[in-house]
Amino acid sequence: MNIQLVGLSGSLRKGSYNTALLQAAAAMLPPDVSLTIAAIDDLPLYNADLDKPAVADRPATVVRLREQLAAAHGILIASPEYNYGIPGGLKNAIDWASRGEDAPLRHKPVALMGATISLWGTVRMQLSFLPVFQYLSMKPHYQPEVLVNEAVKKFDKGGNLTDVATREIIAKKLQSFRQFILDGLA
Ligand SMILES: Cc1cc2nc3c(=O)[nH]c(=O)nc-3n(C[C@H](O)[C@H](O)[C@H](O)COP(=O)(O)O)c2cc1C
Repeated sequence: MNIQLVGLSGSLRKGSYNTALLQAAAAMLPPDVSLTIAAIDDLPLYNADLDKPAVADRPATVVRLREQLAAAHGILIASPEYNYGIPGGLKNAIDWASRGEDAPLRHKPVALMGATISLWGTVRMQLSFLPVFQYLSMKPHYQPEVLVNEAVKKFDKGGNLTDVATREIIAKKLQSFRQFILDGLA
């Protein structure tokens, strides 16, 4: 079977190290895994009045995201931490996918990575996600952790991940997440 992952980047900027991290992961997937990076920059701000149970009543960009997430076997998130927490745009996307009978994140395997220009490697963002995963009954995959600090030293100017140790840990993460998903399906 082909294992489909949806990638979410917590950073919307063009030169984002976190989007580059997802792109690096996409280029080193196990042969039976595919990864599509979902857009979250065109979602409206979460508004429960627009979050209708009938799919057709939701904003079109929300419907698109929910369908992408529903079809995925797992979610791979790469995000910076903003002010010691989850960036608002990413949390907004999570909120849009969290409600209703057909909430696509419920029981979904999820793995985290993060890149930062500073020293702590997004650890506080990753910790901030734990209660979110818990409330949504998601299935977090923990090890190995991918905490990319001092990103300036690990990517080249074209946004390519050049650091060998970081590439190795991402490859291990992807292999392990693949197995975690397969174990959950068995
Ligand atoms: C609004 C904002 C808040 C930030 N807060 C933190 C923080 O709490 N901890 C940290 O290590 N870096 C913080 N940073 C720096 C980011 O880690 C850095 O800009 C990183 O490269 C952003 O990820 P990106 O390259 O994927 O856009 C912050 C940056 C922004 C723009």
